Order: sequence, then structure tokens, then C-alpha cells
Amino acid sequence: GRAGHTRSRPVTTTVITNIGSLVTNTPGLGEGPLGLLRDAAVVIDGDRIAWAGPAGRAPAADASYDAGGRAAVPGFVDSHSHLVFAGDRTEEFNARMSGRPYTAGGIRTTVAATRAASDEELDANVARFVTEALRQGTTTIETKSGYGLTPHDEARALRIAAAHTSETTYLGAHIVAPEYAGDPAAYVDLVTGPMLDACAPYARWVDVFCEEGAFDGDQARTILTAGAKRGLVPRVHANQLSYGPGVRLAVELGAASADHCTHLTPEDVDALAQSGSTVATLLPGAEFSTRARYPDARRLIDAGATVALSTDCNPGSSFTTAMPFCIAIAVRDMGMTPDEALQAATLGGAKALRRTDVGRVAPGACADIALLDAPSHVHLAYRPGVPLVSAVWRRGVREL
Ligand code: NIG
Ligand code: FE
Repeated sequence: GRAGHTRSRPVTTTVITNIGSLVTNTPGLGEGPLGLLRDAAVVIDGDRIAWAGPAGRAPAADASYDAGGRAAVPGFVDSHSHLVFAGDRTEEFNARMSGRPYTAGGIRTTVAATRAASDEELDANVARFVTEALRQGTTTIETKSGYGLTPHDEARALRIAAAHTSETTYLGAHIVAPEYAGDPAAYVDLVTGPMLDACAPYARWVDVFCEEGAFDGDQARTILTAGAKRGLVPRVHANQLSYGPGVRLAVELGAASADHCTHLTPEDVDALAQSGSTVATLLPGAEFSTRARYPDARRLIDAGATVALSTDCNPGSSFTTAMPFCIAIAVRDMGMTPDEALQAATLGGAKALRRTDVGRVAPGACADIALLDAPSHVHLAYRPGVPLVSAVWRRGVREL
């Protein structure tokens, strides 16, 4: 540099010190299944975690951040959301809270609003929800199409989603498009043909709403198999509103997850427990906002199934981006311990997305960390509704 000018090195490593309690989700790094460390530090190098351990042994770094004794957890992994839409369904929610039941039919309202919206409007909506989720600690988020239901509108939704996340899911089979109401078989042909062709370049996953009023087991099998042939890995909206074939189909096809899992027979629970590859993703925001009974997480965990927690953010059944809210419900009403719920919202989501680089705080993982204004992660359930997330690093960048 020039004389008299001291140029500082670019900051590449940051040490977060004085972390009162750190969930690593890495048993080798700390206590119990959460790999819990007290008085911990984490070193971030670029977009990755370089080191995690006792604060007293932290290696030197270019910059440091004092966590002030607060708790740190891996950034939440929300493995199920529907963010590409326009409008809202306040009237439907109001009617439901006066006793009207939730049905798949409400999806049509959002399809009409979404088709009528500009690309810019949809992009701004996704950006707003991703930011909203980030403020509540979510650093990885999956999102789906499903409110376009034409080849053009579904591909547009996925192209817009892909600008915000790599976890994009083709849900052309959300409901039968209104234009095909009299001929569902023709709609399945569209979803497995021209619509799949248009969407496959922008999607990682394929999903079907397998439910009365949407798609039956045979249609779901056809659609998921067609997607899989194009390299899209299946996930299934299964057993949300009623008992049905969704969960067993998901397990049979080796889907990454069976989502909702609200109405399960003993056979469904066994299938999930025996499966080494299909995660049971529970979405308590949906039961909250539809006044339905919650899925029984305890029964699934005790049987040996892997459980994830997600928001299902969408304008119909669950208009929330808040993972802490889902954790609180799961602990209060689904039989989960605070430790289990925290792990389901982080490592569970990562498993549902078949990712090993997120959902944990360990060397080599993405530097995705949420700091809580609390002494431990237990406060996420213990202090429901309180905005405890006070700082977030996503891919090594402090975003909050
Ligand atoms: O996951 N179940 C299907 N899809 C969404 C609801 C979509 C809507 O009502 O707009 C869900 O709950
Ligand atoms: Fe959903």
C-alpha cells in the first residue's frame, strides 16, 4: 500500500464468542443428541463454519462478535412452504373461524389471483416472505409452485422461486385446474407431459396433494413417477384432511418426505418407521389455522420415524413463516420435548431436503446460525410468541 496508509486485511473469518448455549446437532461436539455446548464459540470462514467448540479454545479470527451469553441454534430449515402466490384469503379464514370447514377448494381463489399477478409482484411477494422467515431464524427454505396450474404459470412460479432458493418443488398437481374440472385424467396428462417439460428445468422436487378433492393414490403415483423419471425427487402432501394412501405411497416411492401426516393408521406409522428414506414432516400451522387436530409427533418418534417441523406457509391453511411458532405448538400439543422440536426444525428439515450441509453447526456446514435473546433453545417453546431471534447469519453473512 501507499506510505502512511494502513490497509486492513479483508475480513474472511469471524469468531462468535461468549455463546451461552450452542446447539450443534452434532453429538461428537457436545452433550446428548443435540450436541449441546455451554460457553461456546463458532468460527465462520466465508460461507462455511470452520470451527465450533468451547469458547476458551477458539482459534483466532479476523473479526469477532460477542454473543453476550445468548443461545445459538442452527438456522431453521423450513422444508415445506408455498410462497409464490398473490392475494390473501382473509374472508375464507374469517368464515372458517365462524365454523366453516377447510377444503382444498379454496386453492382456486389463490390460483385466480396468482395468474392475474405480474412477475414483479410475485417476485416481491416471495422476497417479502423469505425475509420475514429470515427474521425468525429460517436460513433454508423450500418453496413450491401450485397456484398457476398451467404450463406457463407453473414454470413462471418455479423460475421466480428459483431466484430465491435452490429448494424448489413442482406442485402442478395441487388441485385439478379449473379448466379441467370435468376431465381430471386430461389434467394428469398435462401435469405429466407439457407442464412437466416446462417446469423440470427450475425444480428439484415433485409433489402431489394426495387427498379427497385433489388427487387420488393412482393419480399421485402416475405424477410422482413421471417427475422421478425427469430427475425430480418425490415428496407428498399426505393424510392431511383424511386417512388415505398418501403416506404409504410416499414410502413405497422412496419420497424424501410425507408431509402433514395428520390422519395415520398404525400401518402408516409402521411404514414411516421402517422407511430409511422418507421423513414425516409435520406442519402444525395448518392444524392451527384450520382448527383441526394436531398430528401426533410422539407416536411417530416412539415408533422410530424421523420427524421434521415446517411452516407450510400458504395463504389458505397456514399463513405463517414462523418456525418458532411451529416449535411452540409441537411442544405444547404434539407431544414433543423442546429438544426434539428444535432438532425437527433444523436437522429434521435438512433430512427432509436430503441435505447434510445445513441443520447443524459443525465444521464444513453452511454458516447458518440464529442467536436467541434467551439462555437456551428451550425458550422457543417456553416463551411462545416472543420474538427471541436477535441475530442471524446466513451462508456466513450477518443478515439481522
Ligand atoms: O399444504 N394441502 C394442500 N396445500 C396447502 C394448502 C393450500 C391452500 O389452501 O391454498 C397445504 O395445506
Ligand atoms: Fe403444503
